[in-house]
Amino acid sequence: MEKTVISLGGSIFGESLDSYLKSITSVLKKYENYAIVVGGGPIARERINFLRQLGASEYHLDKMGIQATRLNALTVSLALGNSMAIPTNIDDAIDLLNSYGKVVMGGTEPGHTTDAVSLLLAEAWGASRVLNITNVDSLYDRDPNLKGAKKIERISYPDLMDLLTREERKAGSNFPMDILSINIAMRSGIDIMILSYKDERNVKNALEGKKFSGTIVSKA
Ligand code: UTP
Repeated sequence: MEKTVISLGGSIFGESLDSYLKSITSVLKKYENYAIVVGGGPIARERINFLRQLGASEYHLDKMGIQATRLNALTVSLALGNSMAIPTNIDDAIDLLNSYGKVVMGGTEPGHTTDAVSLLLAEAWGASRVLNITNVDSLYDRDPNLKGAKKIERISYPDLMDLLTREERKAGSNFPMDILSINIAMRSGIDIMILSYKDERNVKNALEGKKFSGTIVSKA
């Protein structure tokens, strides 16, 4: 398979692990040449919200979030039958990729998300695509819960930036990409594919570079 970085949304841990996580790991077991960066999911969000109310600093909340992503990453790695360590930085991840042809990791440093980690890892490894496998089936032109929301099949980096910075998208919307990640993708021309973990066949198609249902973010 073409070198692929997967940003696996932590929301998969909010579902029954026996369904989507099982199906995704059984699909991925058949491939090599991939890196998976796993998100924090409910365990990160719930604890961050709780500790924020108690006055913990944002820096420490990020540290808490990173630990959650690593717990989730270890879970995914073991589910895949791997026994390698979970690297805590990009350089160590590259070393593992060079030795084993695959790696699973969580966050690295405070101040960004696992999506940004996945793009940085793609840059460092020389991968030209990142699959953002999450709980929505594509990007929409507005909050997908709003009436008339339309799927976007393909969008350029600048157009996605515009969409993301539009006033109504700002607060708390569950947009499957952040600005830092788009900037990293843009400076290195890395394609981002957004798709759901709920459709196994579709995930397979995307992994194999075939036509899939979702959104492609690219140069043009
Ligand atoms: P996620 O990357 O999962 O956050 O990391 P998210 O975007 O809110 O969640 P998804 O992608 O929808 O699942 C969880 C938290 O861990 C911290 C941040 O606080 C983040 O919100 N984190 C994660 C970091 O500080 N640095 C990292 O490299 C990764």
